[in-house]
Amino acid sequence: MIIDWPALRAAAADVAGRAYAPYSRLRVGAAGLTADGRMVTGCNVENASFGLTLCAECGLVSALHGTAPPGTPAPPPEVSGVSGASGASGASGAAGTPGTAAPVLVAVAVVAGDGAPLLPCGRCRQLLLEAGGAALLVDTTAGPVPLGDLLPAAFAAPDLSARRDA
Ligand code: THU
Repeated sequence: MIIDWPALRAAAADVAGRAYAPYSRLRVGAAGLTADGRMVTGCNVENASFGLTLCAECGLVSALHGTAPPGTPAPPPEVSGVSGASGASGASGAAGTPGTAAPVLVAVAVVAGDGAPLLPCGRCRQLLLEAGGAALLVDTTAGPVPLGDLLPAAFAAPDLSARRDA
């Protein structure tokens, strides 16, 4: 799949311009490419109750699901066998097919208001892992890197079924 990184970076910069960040004054925009060829975006949204702030990647992941083609909701990865840690995109054969799989991210660009790449915070790396797996490409100043490099030895859905009480 060809990834148009300049387009992703431009979309991230564009949506960063619509961020609501009056407290930190750090605008953030995120743009992602889905396995079924859609582009989804999100911007950070802050709140007077600071802890309620939504990162740009949160909006992106919500858009990933909220704009997906209609279909039966997919089972959670621990049930379907899709492993976030080993790559949700391992299910990409069915990704984006209504009724058979959750939408999958394959590439993400996150930028600050200055247009330069911003590395996702730890919480957002975990969110992105569930949306794209360890193979998800994340843009950095040094170029795209697999999310697995940014979040090694991650906790993921299979740990639930492997470690929960019987
Ligand atoms: N922020 C994001 O949107 N994504 C990240 O990955 C890091 C931080 C936002 C949250 C907050 O509005 C501002 O940047 C400062 O932390």
